[in-house]
Amino acid sequence: MNRIFIKSALVLLVLIVPACATKISNEAATVKYLDESRNTALEFRKKLGGVQKAQLESVGAENAIPVCKVIAPALAAEYSQDGRVLKRVSLKARNKLLGTPDAWEKQVLEAFDQSQLAGKLADNMEASTVSKDADGRWFRYMKAIPTQPQCLQCHGKPADISAGLKALLAKEYPEDKAVGYSAGEIRGAISIKRKLDAAL
Ligand code: HEC
Repeated sequence: MNRIFIKSALVLLVLIVPACATKISNEAATVKYLDESRNTALEFRKKLGGVQKAQLESVGAENAIPVCKVIAPALAAEYSQDGRVLKRVSLKARNKLLGTPDAWEKQVLEAFDQSQLAGKLADNMEASTVSKDADGRWFRYMKAIPTQPQCLQCHGKPADISAGLKALLAKEYPEDKAVGYSAGEIRGAISIKRKLDAAL
């Protein structure tokens, strides 16, 4: 009886110890994923910016809508792999379904806006944390997206947006909130999350 008990306890130990050993601490997760997330966000922004610039120059803003509507989410999906999820979020989303922030993202976006009001440069703003949610532990990262002059033809004040584009946006995005921006203002953020472990 005792022997069986000891044996099963040993088996349990063998099973449990590696499980504990592989559970990454919050600090180690930050060391491991912060730089990686920074690089991913930078690469994503460069890639999307390049495609957008080329489209705006070659076909003009009205015909560049598909870039934003199709290519941006497709590129985000392409970068969402190996346990990583990449999104673009905003306090004033154009695409409600894809661009609405969750509680942490909303809090960070509000803090970015506050920092900007206090005179900080949007270009350098980022945030990271390890969160414990109902579905497990996640490493999370956000990088602010500043509004550039070329964004205004689709996200600027009414005078910046052509009549044709206004009509197109109204048709495609009846609940559009992503207008009225000025250059330099924070348009939203790239948000990256990575699952560390499942809920117990
Ligand atoms: C040709 C018009 C156009 C231009 C120019 C444009 N956007 Fe957009 N933007 C859109 C559309 C359309 C969407 C909605 C995409 C979707 O359906 O997912 C969008 C969505 C976004 C989103 C996702 C959050 C949301 O509001 O749904 C961000 C962030 C964003 N744009 C930032 C920018 C920035 C920064 C620039 C300039 C570098 C820019 N956009 C230039 C049309 C444009």
